[in-house]
Amino acid sequence: MRRVVLCSFLVSMTAGSSLAQESKAPDVDPIEARQAIMSNNGAAAKLGGQMVKGETPFDPAAAGVALRTMQSGSLGFGYYFPEGSDTGGDTEAAPAIWEKPEEFRSALAKFQNDAAAAIEAKPEDLEAFKQAFSAVTANCKSCHDEFRLEKN
Ligand code: HEC
Repeated sequence: MRRVVLCSFLVSMTAGSSLAQESKAPDVDPIEARQAIMSNNGAAAKLGGQMVKGETPFDPAAAGVALRTMQSGSLGFGYYFPEGSDTGGDTEAAPAIWEKPEEFRSALAKFQNDAAAAIEAKPEDLEAFKQAFSAVTANCKSCHDEFRLEKN
């Protein structure tokens, strides 16, 4: 788990943070790369959710790692939707990503901003973390509703 989180961090560091550099994405399979980022988001959200529900004791360092994992993923994610990657692999990416690119970009920008704000808030106790975490994870559902196909 820890190794996977670090990988995603490196992927997004390599990718940089500007959508303007989209064409310079590293030479990796874009579907696998974006799914790996999301799978780390899933792990981070699970850890954060366990703390919120009291299943795992609140720990500010672990909370920070969860928020930073989501934030670093949010920065790299947008690079991995080149034309032609709407099908193939085992992608769950919805056609809406390519049909309404502006809306997808703004959903992603909101995720980036909310994640950055959550880190900025430096939650040191459970109440503060709950607020920061729910602001960030609201983005998961809203983006998935519109831009991710449900697999059955
Ligand atoms: C801006 C849009 C967006 C946001 C925000 C977003 N996701 Fe996703 N997510 C997607 C898309 C698109 C896919 C499908 C990617 C594919 O299969 O090519 C996906 C896929 C996933 C997957 C499946 C990954 C796999 O292994 O195939 C998980 C888990 C996931 N997201 C969790 C999360 C969590 C948790 C959050 C919030 C912390 C989140 N996502 C926020 C767009 C988003």
